[in-house]
Amino acid sequence: MIQEHEPFEPEATRRDAGDTESSCASRGWWDRNADEYQIEHGTFLGDDRFVWGPEGLDEVEAELLGPPEDLKGKDVLEIGAGAAQCSRWLIRQGARPVALDLSHRQLQHALRIGGVPLVEADAGALPFADGSFDLACSAYGALPFVADPVRVLREVHRVLRPGGRFVFSVTHPIRWAFPDEPGPEGLSVSASYFDRTPYVEQDEEGHAVYVEHHRTIGDRVRDVVAGGFRLLDLVEPEWPAWNTQEWGGWSPLRGNLIPGTAIFVCERE
Ligand SMILES: C[S@@+](CC[C@H](N)C(=O)[O-])C[C@H]1O[C@@H](n2cnc3c(N)ncnc32)[C@H](O)[C@@H]1O
Repeated sequence: MIQEHEPFEPEATRRDAGDTESSCASRGWWDRNADEYQIEHGTFLGDDRFVWGPEGLDEVEAELLGPPEDLKGKDVLEIGAGAAQCSRWLIRQGARPVALDLSHRQLQHALRIGGVPLVEADAGALPFADGSFDLACSAYGALPFVADPVRVLREVHRVLRPGGRFVFSVTHPIRWAFPDEPGPEGLSVSASYFDRTPYVEQDEEGHAVYVEHHRTIGDRVRDVVAGGFRLLDLVEPEWPAWNTQEWGGWSPLRGNLIPGTAIFVCERE
């Protein structure tokens, strides 16, 4: 008799998760979910737009990496690039980006769209020589998912040339205190903002299959400084009237009341 298996439902919990466990969980989760992610969000992201997060803040208007005309000829590292949409926009500005990601399947989507040099690696161990890049960027790539963000920042510091910018976006830390729901149920505080215990989804044997790490705003500022950077700006994009779409827990309803994304504009010391 053929045994029918229930589809596996991971258990959501809060517990510690170290560097290796977090990386393994991220690689597996993004490999399994890349297709669905690109189908669901690919149109909003565009093949060659540079969008910083679900609010839709576009680098064309934000200029967080500097004026677009100054990007010409710059070596840029994109971390947690997914399908490398941001790198394709950088190429259009005359920059020379390299798109790095941990997930093979995400990079297959980058390859499908084409046109960008790709590297499969962990943001915590960048396979580049010291001083290889003028700029680095990351739109929700890697930093929300790693146990040791200072390690990533130190690696980015190492591969950047002096004075180079690293601009990265993450889920705004205040969101940790609220349920991750786009509707009214996502508007009431349900957890402590100060509780740094990671959010973990695990299988029947207790192995993590998805991990997100929380840092308070103060933690992130200290991480940036510990990584050897000066913080030039902290951008909290407001929800624009044109954006009527929901993206997971991000929605017009919540976006009009609380920030959803934090973008750190940093300069290498
Ligand atoms: C939310 S997606 C963002 C991708 C792209 N920037 C976008 O906006 O669609 C997060 C990406 O970070 C990658 N990632 C997660 N942890 C990573 C790590 N430790 N090193 C490198 N990439 C990582 C994932 O594989 C995934 O492609």
